[in-house]
Amino acid sequence: MKGVAVAAVLMITAGCAPAEAPAPLRTESTPANSAAFEVESQERQLPSDFGFGAPASDERIARWDIDIKPDGEGLPTGRGTVSEGATLYAIQCAVCHGATGIEGPDVALAEPGGSWEDTPTSRAIGVYWPHATTLYDYIQKAMPMATPGTLTPDETYAVIAYLLHINGLVPADAELDAASLVAIEMPARDRFVPDDRPGGATIR
Ligand code: HEC
Repeated sequence: MKGVAVAAVLMITAGCAPAEAPAPLRTESTPANSAAFEVESQERQLPSDFGFGAPASDERIARWDIDIKPDGEGLPTGRGTVSEGATLYAIQCAVCHGATGIEGPDVALAEPGGSWEDTPTSRAIGVYWPHATTLYDYIQKAMPMATPGTLTPDETYAVIAYLLHINGLVPADAELDAASLVAIEMPARDRFVPDDRPGGATIR
């Protein structure tokens, strides 16, 4: 009985199959059969769509398109002060980065008196980060670690202002927005070069 049911399902499926059925799934990939697959897929015309999904709307793409470039491209409108950032940091960040950003247990975000020469493995912002702008990119995507993406633009600017302050890079009364963030020159600015290798075997 079971055999009959399976056969019936197979027949129905076969009856519905489009003329150009996709190639069966391969169970193992070897150089020989993957080369054969490439030739085969070049010869076969793939369908223009697979009958599911929808084109991504501009609004949907915009929600994913949040990267901030080193030159500040992509920074949203907003502003935040060192003191607002201090409050936010105490509530949302201090548990992992320490009460004043140096105690840990996770990465020390500041290192008073630290320098690239003295502590080359330091990841403190004032020692290691080449651009203040990319702090925005990183924090909005990755921090706080358990709830990334929850900070508003104003909160993100504020916490960056606080972090730059504890690294001695902006005064206690600083307020940051997109323009002032771009204008900050980080101590490690010249420690990095743009990686313009095209890929593949290129080595510089
Ligand atoms: C639950 C723990 C936790 C919390 C809370 C947290 N962080 Fe982090 N943070 C980490 C860890 C762990 C890393 C290292 C991640 C890695 O190396 O991939 C990190 C890395 C960072 C870095 C990069 C440091 C560097 O130079 O590499 C920054 C900046 C940062 N956090 C900012 C924040 C801010 C701002 C907040 C609060 C809004 C926050 N973090 C809250 C755990 C946390």
